[in-house]
Amino acid sequence: MNGTEPVPADEFRHLVLIGMMGAGKSSVGRRLALRLGRHFVDTDRLVEQRAGKTVGEIFAVDGEAAFRAVEAQAVRDALDSDVWAVIAFGGGAVLDPANRDLAREAALVVWLQAPVRELARRVSASLRRSTGARPLLTSGRPPEAVLDRMARDREESYRIAAHLVVDTAGRSPSQVATAVLAAIGWEVPAR
Ligand code: S3P
Repeated sequence: MNGTEPVPADEFRHLVLIGMMGAGKSSVGRRLALRLGRHFVDTDRLVEQRAGKTVGEIFAVDGEAAFRAVEAQAVRDALDSDVWAVIAFGGGAVLDPANRDLAREAALVVWLQAPVRELARRVSASLRRSTGARPLLTSGRPPEAVLDRMARDREESYRIAAHLVVDTAGRSPSQVATAVLAAIGWEVPAR
């Protein structure tokens, strides 16, 4: 993506999914892990295990900077494993250049893209269920406006981090998983 390195072709590496909240990183990642016969790892869950609190609690009690510090550790833990996994990064993980560099070294990094309107539609169901996982969307401002601003601010970081981009607009998680597999060209083990 950044034009300086070739896309890694072999599959002896992790597969990392990046992108905005609502891009489908977790739902697509779980399906990809099943199809590739790999473990699925979600850095938000690693953060919660490390901290012993939910993402929402960490933001509320300790603040975003504390969350980002634990997230950086979770990224290192996930990428350190030599059992190749499918790893969904939290939406803001690649804002940290160190996380980006580690991911590009140890993984094939795929950016799941979606129009902001679709991101907002997808996150709204989870926001109704609970406010815990996405504290950045609970300021009271309409999620679509927050996501729009955030997507603009983050676009460059996603672009620099990604080896490949997959468009998720109008596609179900299964369809996106199929598109990712086609884009990366890795062999899918027979089941
Ligand atoms: C965040 C995204 C969330 C979570 C945290 C911060 C972000 O993960 O890490 O609320 O900065 O975009 P998802 O992208 O899995 O929702």
